[in-house]
Amino acid sequence: MRRYRIALIPGDGIGKEVVPAGRQVLEALAGAENGIGFDFESFDWGGDYYRAHGAMMPEEGLEALRSQDAILFGSAGDPGIPDHITLWGLRLKICQGLDQYANVRPTRILPGIDAPLKRCRTEDLDWVIVRENTEGEYSGAGGRVHQGFPIEAAMDVSLMTRAGVERIQRYAFRLAASRPRKQLTVVTKSNAQRHAMVMWDEVAAGVARDFPEVTWDKELVDAMTARMVNRPASLDTIVATNLQADVLSDLAAALAGSLGIAPTGNINPERVFPSMFEPIHGSAFDIMGRGVANPIGTFWSAAMMLDHLGEAEAARRVMEAVEAATADPKLRTRDLSGAATTAEVTEAVCAHIAAAARRPLATA
Ligand code: IPM
Ligand code: MG
Repeated sequence: MRRYRIALIPGDGIGKEVVPAGRQVLEALAGAENGIGFDFESFDWGGDYYRAHGAMMPEEGLEALRSQDAILFGSAGDPGIPDHITLWGLRLKICQGLDQYANVRPTRILPGIDAPLKRCRTEDLDWVIVRENTEGEYSGAGGRVHQGFPIEAAMDVSLMTRAGVERIQRYAFRLAASRPRKQLTVVTKSNAQRHAMVMWDEVAAGVARDFPEVTWDKELVDAMTARMVNRPASLDTIVATNLQADVLSDLAAALAGSLGIAPTGNINPERVFPSMFEPIHGSAFDIMGRGVANPIGTFWSAAMMLDHLGEAEAARRVMEAVEAATADPKLRTRDLSGAATTAEVTEAVCAHIAAAARRPLATA
């Protein structure tokens, strides 16, 4: 029996609904005799913790995470607390503190999902966006002076290091090389941003020499939005800076049918620290507490987590159950114009996993 220590951080809003759903699915998997087990530890960090303690997570919180094998995260955000405090106090603190420098965002149109592009076939859209996750526009460098006075000045410095750029480019090229099409698009804005983005392009060209099997091209981020809409099949693996990829990945999720489905892995590729997996939808206060959040983004994130842990077969089983759920019109949550509840989708996915376990394993 292989056992994994999983930290659960539901965070805020619907994170408190989808992370328990994710745990249920992992428990169903463990219960289905897949030879794996989980030891869960829950952390009550987030907005409520902030109101009680004045911080989103405790000082020694990172220490508690270091000994885990992986982290399943919900979302951070609270209507009563400024967004930059919730973000920097929890999610960025963990991503930067555990050096999870590669943020990986796969996008596919799952079975049964009605995606908005009329001319796009399901097979035309199969992307992975690799987002730089520890520096760039989210470096936190900058400041405000003369606060509140008319001469106030403020700056956010997009800081890029050659080492930081090289490691994310290398990760993206390696990922592209591992996918059937072996194709990478490097997103840039080096026409307007003439320092760091020019270095970004140069580093990409240098790393590309180590991956002769990968076909790669460069696209300006503005043109990239149009290409994603007009020529989705021309893209496969994509690498972009922290903010660029933040924007592009919302577009990608919307083009695939719903933000409620899209998953993320915050990866520490060297595995010195645990990696963290989360749905990208955020806390969604408008629907919190009503049990109607779409848990699919969390389940797909859990599948990415299993893959990262080396449990490819278990990941495949979760995705098979997820795809059976999306294919069933009765299991659509309201983001997909349906009326199914979080619990109904979760139960269906767990039942599918249990039923599949009674069938023999597929042989590769
Ligand atoms: C994401 C989110 C976050 C980000 C928000 C919640 C700050 O949009 O994970 O893409 O911008 O990184
Ligand atoms: Mg985003």
